[in-house]
Amino acid sequence: MRRHLLSIDDLRREDIERILRLAESFAEVAGREIKKVPTLRGRTVINLFYEASTRTSSSFGIAAKRLSADVENVTAQGSSVDKGESLKDTVQTLSAYDPAAIVFRSPHAGAAALVARWTSAAVINAGDGKHEHPTQALLDLYTLRRRAGPLEGRKVWIVGDVLHSRVARSNILAFGRMGCQVTVCGPPTLIPRGVESLGCEVRYSLDDLGEADVVYALRMQHERMKGSFVPSLREYAACYQIDGRRLGSHQLLMHPGPVNRGVELAAEVIDSPQALITQQVESGVVVRMAVLYDLLAGGPAGPGGGHGARLSGEHSGEAPEPQPA
Ligand code: NCD
Repeated sequence: MRRHLLSIDDLRREDIERILRLAESFAEVAGREIKKVPTLRGRTVINLFYEASTRTSSSFGIAAKRLSADVENVTAQGSSVDKGESLKDTVQTLSAYDPAAIVFRSPHAGAAALVARWTSAAVINAGDGKHEHPTQALLDLYTLRRRAGPLEGRKVWIVGDVLHSRVARSNILAFGRMGCQVTVCGPPTLIPRGVESLGCEVRYSLDDLGEADVVYALRMQHERMKGSFVPSLREYAACYQIDGRRLGSHQLLMHPGPVNRGVELAAEVIDSPQALITQQVESGVVVRMAVLYDLLAGGPAGPGGGHGARLSGEHSGEAPEPQPA
């Protein structure tokens, strides 16, 4: 029985399908004037972020509030981490408040799994170093399916700094699990050795980009680079930037944000109707509501009842009928 969401590997295809169905039902709530259901009333969600974030932290906060949870945000900066408190002590301190969930982001791969050992709260990995970012992958699946229909057989090219990208790792697994054909592409210095074992093909040039249905561009993760991986950003852009010449009119464009305009993407494609970047951000709220619901409230009693551990899919409940608060 699973209580946490640490990796896409925690999820079978049917678990992903269930979460996407839940997200659809929460999209209906998001369309209402009062965007709130009582599901997590009286329960506490702590957002513990040790690394910069705009989209992930705000959307988890909004998601938890729309489920009526009480939300506390703790960032490394300004907390006792600045005074030298260890991660373990910080987690045990916050666990004394008996939170239902801790949403955790860290610059270190594997840190979310450690946190899960130190708390009785459900732990949701909001990005651990270059390892994984499972809720990003789930919201990407959701966004693409809403725009383009069934995912089976779609050709997805993930382009750029795959080496330092937790989004790439989670998305290779997630798109693969949903039956997509995944190709990663970038300069050899930015493609991790053995990445094929996650279930993708590797290309080192954009020559065959035309075969992709979806182009998923990644940011250069300078904060994780020790040393120089490309001769210059200008040269990188010349070979790998997705621009109006390279993006065909039949192709969709995705990017997890934040975008470095003029590096991995040219302005004309960011603002084109083929870009799903804003929709990805929008989906972040309903997909994170679905993940919180699935972990914390997905028991047999339905919305507001049960304290289920649902991500391993031991129940196959239908999406909830969200009720206004
Ligand atoms: C990504 C991340 O932090 O891993 N951003 C996000 O969560 N939307 C990707 C990135 O920082 O490039």
